[in-house]
Amino acid sequence: MDTLFTNAISKRKNLLTSQTDALRLFDGIGDGIEDIFLETFADHWVISTRENNLPRDIEMHLKSSGKTVYWKHLNQHQKDNPAHLCGPPLDQPFIAKESGVNYRISFQSGYSQGIFLDQRHNRIRVRKAVKPGDTILNTFAYTGAFSVCAALAGATTTTLDLSQPYLDWAKQNMQQNDIDHTQHYFCKGDTFHWLKRFAKQGRKFNGIILDPPTFSRDDKGKVFRVETHYDQLIALAAACIAPDGWILASTNCRKLTSYDFNLLVKRGLASYKSITELDMPEEYTGESYLKSLWISL
Ligand SMILES: C[S@@+](CC[C@H](N)C(=O)[O-])C[C@H]1O[C@@H](n2cnc3c(N)ncnc32)[C@H](O)[C@@H]1O
Repeated sequence: MDTLFTNAISKRKNLLTSQTDALRLFDGIGDGIEDIFLETFADHWVISTRENNLPRDIEMHLKSSGKTVYWKHLNQHQKDNPAHLCGPPLDQPFIAKESGVNYRISFQSGYSQGIFLDQRHNRIRVRKAVKPGDTILNTFAYTGAFSVCAALAGATTTTLDLSQPYLDWAKQNMQQNDIDHTQHYFCKGDTFHWLKRFAKQGRKFNGIILDPPTFSRDDKGKVFRVETHYDQLIALAAACIAPDGWILASTNCRKLTSYDFNLLVKRGLASYKSITELDMPEEYTGESYLKSLWISL
């Protein structure tokens, strides 16, 4: 087991640079142990397991690493923080870097730590696709990581999420990268509601990012399920795209195959120029669960 961890980490050594210190270090079965995942955030580790108990040999390995390690149970309640396992506790948020961009990380803000590391390549793609002066809408934005990348490329961004604390976090992420958040827009509320509203107002964006949770309930109790509602989401987003614009459509829904996700997305589009399937970052050696499509309209 020690060797599996050491090998996995050493395989990823060239991805850990002065520009990137947030990364998946161990990816379950892809690195030899099913349902065990290890992520680093500025040299602080989070180990995730599906089982309620952490195997003894893994616990011993982590405790001898000299790192601060927190443990996340993957089936736990969304509001639970990861549990402190060893090393000096991290009671305050801190900064981690990815591709030269600063992100505020917290081990005290519930199930997720502030950035979804599996979207690393997509954040780079957004940053490359954006032209100065573009308008970009980041829906289901969480802490606004995509907005930060678009803003750094010169876009005026609109960051949309149901949660005010996440919108505030997105503003802090902008500040951490010397972006004046007062020059950008932040919308609290349901993505479906806002997309309809933007369409009615004739508001258009050069790019829209769609990365919804698999299941959600908006503030009025309306349910969204990726498997049944993604085509409607695409149709609403497409109605708000400026000529020659694009949509980045993602889902981590394990029930949907890439083929079915493609079909669902196409069902929502009256027309498109091209659809390109995007791969996951190379350190995700296990299940390829994140499906992403780049849609040129
Ligand atoms: C999976 S996270 C999105 C991750 C984000 N795209 C990223 O890469 O950082 C889901 C986010 O969607 C938000 N959310 C859930 N349902 C929503 C809805 N109906 N409208 C807007 N935001 C919603 C949640 O508050 C949460 O921040």
